[in-house]
Amino acid sequence: MHRTQQILPTIRPPRAEDATAIWSLVQKSGSLDSNSPYAYLLLCTDFSEAGAVAEADGEIVGFLVGYRPPTRPETYFVWQIAVADAYRGRGIAPALLDAVLDRMLPLEVKFLEATVTASNAASWALFRGFARHASAPCFEQPAFPSDLFPDGAHEEEVRIRIGPLD
Ligand SMILES: CC(C)(COP(=O)(O)OP(=O)(O)OC[C@H]1O[C@@H](n2cnc3c(N)ncnc32)[C@H](O)[C@@H]1OP(=O)(O)O)[C@@H](O)C(=O)NCCC(=O)NCCS
Repeated sequence: MHRTQQILPTIRPPRAEDATAIWSLVQKSGSLDSNSPYAYLLLCTDFSEAGAVAEADGEIVGFLVGYRPPTRPETYFVWQIAVADAYRGRGIAPALLDAVLDRMLPLEVKFLEATVTASNAASWALFRGFARHASAPCFEQPAFPSDLFPDGAHEEEVRIRIGPLD
């Protein structure tokens, strides 16, 4: 679908056996909240259709996990996306988004959402780039202020909403 796919590792839905590798990528990402290994097991099984992994030489080098919020089924929410350091800048994250959206669009999904902290430049570049490539409007609004997190020890999360998507 895009320029990046000729050089990509295999992209496929996640399965239970991938959960530990995904959890490890999160630990190494340097910027993502770590959830429990059990949470990733659920995301790789019950939410497998809404996720994707990038596999190169039998190794998981990128992943995307998300879901459709029950009250907004026309929206696909990106919970977390990360690519291993050595594989960044090759279009793997956009390819993961494309792979999942190819599955979501026939389900009447029209919007992509995520929350991003102000300091996460790579994440902003990814989502704004995605909106640009999709020629879709991109809205930003406050999502979760710091005081909703324990001891306020978390940067504010800003919601980014992209769509409608074709
Ligand atoms: C954010 C992160 C996942 C990006 O992964 P990546 O595979 O290195 O992403 P890339 O840089 O190759 O892709 C972004 C580029 O794709 C472009 N792009 C976006 N959508 C695209 C699409 N559909 N088709 C083609 N290109 C697209 C963007 O414009 C951007 O290009 P630019 O850097 O030239 O502006 C990675 O930096 C990471 O793992 N960071 C740590 C974890 C994190 O912060 N995750 C996000 C919060 S959940």
